[in-house]
Amino acid sequence: MHKTTQSPLTRMLLENPKQYVSGEMISQQLGISRTAVWKQIKKLESIGYEIEAVTKLGYRLLYYPKAIDHLQIEQQLQGHRLGNVIHHYDVVDSTQVIAKQLAEEGATEGTVVLAEQQVKGKGRLGRHWHSPYAKGIWMSVILRPQIPIQLAPQLTLLTAVALCRAMRTYSGLEIGIKWPNDLLYQGKKLSGILLESSAEDQMLKYVIAGIGIDANLSANDYDEQLALKATSLRLLMGKEIDRTELIQLFLTEWELIMEIYERSGFRPIAELWEAHAISLGQKLSLTTPTETFMGTPLRLTDAGSIIVQLEDGTEKEIYSAEMGEVTSNSRL
Ligand code: BTN
Repeated sequence: MHKTTQSPLTRMLLENPKQYVSGEMISQQLGISRTAVWKQIKKLESIGYEIEAVTKLGYRLLYYPKAIDHLQIEQQLQGHRLGNVIHHYDVVDSTQVIAKQLAEEGATEGTVVLAEQQVKGKGRLGRHWHSPYAKGIWMSVILRPQIPIQLAPQLTLLTAVALCRAMRTYSGLEIGIKWPNDLLYQGKKLSGILLESSAEDQMLKYVIAGIGIDANLSANDYDEQLALKATSLRLLMGKEIDRTELIQLFLTEWELIMEIYERSGFRPIAELWEAHAISLGQKLSLTTPTETFMGTPLRLTDAGSIIVQLEDGTEKEIYSAEMGEVTSNSRL
């Protein structure tokens, strides 16, 4: 379902890595006008190519996205519970919507929906999730857990633990979890998780776990507002992220953590979560649907809520809240 673009212009730029290719030369070799060259350059930029244009010198290819090899992932994960069926799209509204349709049609647990770009990417609390072409991992996975609906928050936390561990392994960076499920490095968000579930008779029928990872976004991919709050692994590591490898690593880790959960319950997961959390033990502002107050998150409960110590020393259980600034990297 995914097409790769290899136009004559792409080939010319690729054949001259790191060098400027003049607009004149491109226009002559391809037999098209200078304006048509410029339009093609813009088209390439819209699909993730980063091209520098310098007057009198021409165009220079700085970066081009390596495609996700979903066949390799499927092959490597044959016989596994997650990732042995992958639907890889080019541009979609949201992978969540496609995965939901597939789940309704009976798709098996572990079916993955990937897209190169989402034009209506969904974030938590009805927010938009910025998902530029070929720059990130925009992925929804169908889960069919046999648990009551009230335990769904445990799955979110479990997913955050697996994702955090996979991203730490890949990057070597001490990425941390901000409750409930944002992944941050030095106060900037790298990844978010959105779980949407469908239930019947108080039991979960299926869960669509949406994972967004800012893998290869460049500084230009963020507007001024977003640049203050978010960053990408590529910006932090100074090199291109192999999205295929990271997806595979995450799906494998996730499956492992799920097995621990099924064998030993939520306690070990909660402990892992706490060990990766950056939001514990720090005084911050919490905004619930009804109020904003200061408090210090202390620990996770078995229901997936968090116990917060208020300024007067009393403790309060919070089920859903936005946390204010958390800047330190990790409490460990
Ligand atoms: C958040 O707000 O932190 C959650 C972001 C979840 C984004 C992912 S990207 C893949 C999947 N499809 C969507 O539309 N959203 C999720």
